[in-house]
Amino acid sequence: MPCLTSARRQRIPSDFESVLEKILMVDQILSEFVLSKEELEEVMRRMRREMERGLRVETHDEASVKMLPTYVRSTPEGSEVGDFLALDLGGTNFRVMLVKVGEDEERGWKVETKHHMYSIPEDAMTGTAEMLFDYIAGCISDFLDKHNLKHKKLPLGFTFSFPVRHEDLDKGILLNWTKGFKASGAEGNNVVGLLRDAIKRRGDFEMDVVAMVNDTVATMISCYYEDRSCEVGMIVGTGCNACYMEEMRKVELVEGEEGRMCVNTEWGAFGDHSELEDFRLEYDRVIDETSLNPGHQLYEKLIGGKYMGELVRLVLLKLVNEDLLFNGEASDLLKTRGAFETRFVSQIESDTGDRKQIYNILSCLGILPSELDCDIVRLACESVSTRAAHLCGAGLAGVINLMRERRCQEELKITVGVDGSVYKLHPHFKERFHKLVWELTPHCEITFIQSEEGSGRGAALISAVACKMAACMLTP
Ligand code: BGC
Repeated sequence: MPCLTSARRQRIPSDFESVLEKILMVDQILSEFVLSKEELEEVMRRMRREMERGLRVETHDEASVKMLPTYVRSTPEGSEVGDFLALDLGGTNFRVMLVKVGEDEERGWKVETKHHMYSIPEDAMTGTAEMLFDYIAGCISDFLDKHNLKHKKLPLGFTFSFPVRHEDLDKGILLNWTKGFKASGAEGNNVVGLLRDAIKRRGDFEMDVVAMVNDTVATMISCYYEDRSCEVGMIVGTGCNACYMEEMRKVELVEGEEGRMCVNTEWGAFGDHSELEDFRLEYDRVIDETSLNPGHQLYEKLIGGKYMGELVRLVLLKLVNEDLLFNGEASDLLKTRGAFETRFVSQIESDTGDRKQIYNILSCLGILPSELDCDIVRLACESVSTRAAHLCGAGLAGVINLMRERRCQEELKITVGVDGSVYKLHPHFKERFHKLVWELTPHCEITFIQSEEGSGRGAALISAVACKMAACMLTP
């Protein structure tokens, strides 16, 4: 016998009462995405605890947030000038850049860049490490040909946006792939070694790899060039991560007490030891179970652009199944994994109110939506992206409050350099994110700056600094 609600649902929602009922039911489903200030403070506290555990030798192995030392230190002033090559690997594209570092009276650095983008074929991402690094070496060779640089042995900075356990600035072991990369034989190996071997195998050019940095670190360095208070770097793009300058005495994994070292938090893995279980929803579990790395990068999967569109798609399917959307019917495309791209979330939330943009996207997905459908889809997008902005904000607030305590300052004035497609392209992510960070960090004055070409430029700049230091060491 049909229950009362399903009998009601069968009525065509033309009258006000049934529309209202529908909206209330949608609202109830989407309300799961709303986190209160208290809950976000709890996320911040747990993040903070994991960060402390990651830094300490006794707890490092079992901590989900690995807090990896980067060997980028706070001391350098001045850098080598000249041409540097910068590589940037971290998403579906691989970039090669020529960076000319010159002297500038005011800033100390003057930087000019030329770059070329290469898209990484699926089989190179998921084949063997040799295939991936041969492909990369091939791209470098092509770039050098284009710019007539084959004859030069240039110093090279490598932005490699995955978790790496460094032994020095130019040496580090890949801990695990993230963001859909799977090339076998790379995890557990020295990434710079894999690159050098591939260059050697080709034999048509030479390179001097001087530094390898995470994209968060490259972003921080590149923004530091604009603003000397920049001591935090953050990426909200395909993946999500942050780095910051930590007191050396707290970086227990590296010897020495003086000055500061940049720590790559690798906070994307927060939650991998169940720290987020009370906040994860049924959609998050599906995303994780169907990913290439189930059980890993759980915080990143709540925030990153690799997952945001898919999360919205799962929410829409839920609403369809509950007969609250599209007359209870999903198109084949909407039923297809990955069909709802993250850029659609940005585009839908950019709609000016006439619903044209939303209508167009949904019709491309084989759906002819009503006006109410369009509004509900927008609400679903807002729920997923706002939760992402707030969770990410809680993480950053944890980092900044920790920095303030470390420095025993009444008031911490700090700049955060940020990059990544979600942060840059989503129409409201930034505002929601900034507002929450400011709310959770009393006694801190935080400025956010957006990095342009941060990934490559930062790698080149740190290479320039490393070259200078190497030169200093050679000169008595
Ligand atoms: C990686 C980080 C990286 C972040 C942003 C994550 O998946 O583990 O190393 O910084 O993505 O690109």
